Amino acid sequence: MKKNEFLWGGSIAAHQCEGAWNKDGKGVAIMDLVTQGSYETPRKICQTIESDNYYPSHDGIDFYHRYKEDIALFAEMGFKALRISIDWSRIYPNGDEEEANQLGIQFYQNVVDELLKNKIIPIVTLYHFEMPIHLVREYGSWTSRKVVDFYLKYCETMFEALKGKVHYWVTFNEMNHIDPQTEASDIFTYIIAGLKYTEMENKKQTLATISYNMTLASVKAVKIARRIDPVNQVGCVFGLTPAYPLNCDPQNVMNSLKETDRECYQIDAMCMGKFPEYKLKEYSAQGIELEISKADQQAFEEGKIDFIGLNYYSSSVAHYEGDDNNEETLFGGVQNPYLEQSKWGWAIDPIGLRYMLNYIYRRYGLPIIITENGLGAVDQLEVNGSIQDDYRIEYVQKHIEQMEKAIVEDYVDCFGYLMWGPIDLVSATTGEMKKRYGFIYVDKNDDQTGTLERKKKKSFEWYQEIITQNPTFS
Ligand code: BG6
Repeated sequence: MKKNEFLWGGSIAAHQCEGAWNKDGKGVAIMDLVTQGSYETPRKICQTIESDNYYPSHDGIDFYHRYKEDIALFAEMGFKALRISIDWSRIYPNGDEEEANQLGIQFYQNVVDELLKNKIIPIVTLYHFEMPIHLVREYGSWTSRKVVDFYLKYCETMFEALKGKVHYWVTFNEMNHIDPQTEASDIFTYIIAGLKYTEMENKKQTLATISYNMTLASVKAVKIARRIDPVNQVGCVFGLTPAYPLNCDPQNVMNSLKETDRECYQIDAMCMGKFPEYKLKEYSAQGIELEISKADQQAFEEGKIDFIGLNYYSSSVAHYEGDDNNEETLFGGVQNPYLEQSKWGWAIDPIGLRYMLNYIYRRYGLPIIITENGLGAVDQLEVNGSIQDDYRIEYVQKHIEQMEKAIVEDYVDCFGYLMWGPIDLVSATTGEMKKRYGFIYVDKNDDQTGTLERKKKKSFEWYQEIITQNPTFS
């Protein structure tokens, strides 16, 4: 990377794009059991693959076989970086094997080689909602310390396999939605940990244990990454949503502080060198117990992250007295009447990105990379085959403007912008293809028709121009 070069690019995740769900020794992962849903109909989480259901991760957009073509398109746009994720179940199909699956490793080595050949820096997420289902069924997922050890073994395998080629690592994507203090939906807890909220026996205790073990796994992975290659930079990605106060009523301001803050305790743990005291006191006041050994404490001290990845899509209004009839947002809080929403009810708030960048930077002082940001929208194929996605251009442009203000006017150290889903892929929350994010269109529909052909949308050239015009912000 050239000095001060800004990491323009995009982010994708294995289970949403690869397909080939049972090829080359891959095991069954948690998302392979989740059906297609829609905005109105939640995705169904199944015990087995049912023949009358469709499971979008099984085919994805066939990145597994088309990655060269897709990477060539990213390179044509001028990408400096691409964030991919590794599907754990390709490497250790059940999660607890002695030996890794060489074909799985080979696939990621090939993808990384292809990126480097195209002068694109790989940023690799080790866990983006991809866990072998066997670890859930046999060990209870992240409630078990054994799973922490399996994860670390898997991380070590990948640090070794991609040594010298990958220097930016992300331990987890969005573990922050696991919070014992709030009611959760089945799909959120399942996506992150393979467990349904409604089926958890002691919900608060279970969520606290899962969250603690994942946080511990992250700090331990950081240490291993550094031991294997001291040049490794390791971060963790959080999906954060500012929850604004309804007005200046001090109670509403306090609610806003608490709701925005509530998903930061794991970041505190990863940056401050210990699991935060305030969280432990909160737990013990509620009868939640965590076993924290001396070795754990040391792991927190030694495994501080190097950077923070920020996924930002939307903002909300913190709950307030009398808000019972207001529409709840997916991320907590209620809808903001000042903001327009996407077709999936996600409020569009570019200033919220500047707000969140400031909030995180001032709290932690660590470099930040925007690891996801984008608009899920229905695209229309014109008669001439073009896709005029001006709404996407407008969304990304306005967010980039706010990011620039954060960098130039507020002096936030933000070293990259990775747009989510630079190529259309399966939506995580709904499983649809119709909810498209890409600068590149993929001919695949929710009724499973389509040729999988890739097409450039209008936004493709627009983003290419943005990258060319803005090599740095300093
Ligand atoms: C992020 C996830 O929270 O949101 C991605 O990290 C996901 O995996 C993205 O795709 C957008 O959500 P959705 O449901 O529109 O795909």
